[in-house]
Amino acid sequence: MIALGCDHGGYNLIVAIKKYLEEKGIAYRDFGTYSEESVDYPVYAYKVAQAVVSGECEMGILCCGTGIGISMAANKVKGIRAAVVGNAFGAEMTRRHNHANVLCMGGRVTSEEDAVKFTEIFLNTPEEGGRHDKRVAMIKEIEEGTFM
Ligand code: RB5
Repeated sequence: MIALGCDHGGYNLIVAIKKYLEEKGIAYRDFGTYSEESVDYPVYAYKVAQAVVSGECEMGILCCGTGIGISMAANKVKGIRAAVVGNAFGAEMTRRHNHANVLCMGGRVTSEEDAVKFTEIFLNTPEEGGRHDKRVAMIKEIEEGTFM
């Protein structure tokens, strides 16, 4: 199950991503917003982040105008590694190296076509272990306040 969320600035991307997920038969839960009426992105970041850390959803996708504000809010939730992605290489590497569990994109900087492409890459790229496990463990230690 994929958790989806957006504000008004990312609504168009989420519409395109939902169409893609439906075509592929991938289950999702849409936490809103559901129109281009102005809303506050932290609300949707929080709902999606909670769905991921609770285990209800394996991964999340969040979109706002730039992808930045909504990623900042999501990253405040313990256990979330939200990545703002603007190219295919980033979509792949943030899964392989950073074990990102939330993909963030911006409706004012990324086309719907690219957002679907980055989503497909993100959802189909595995996490790499070894040195990357060690580094992600360090991120978790920073989060816990036990690092260094
Ligand atoms: C909303 O106008 C805009 O600030 C928001 O979508 C996002 O880009 C924030 O980072």
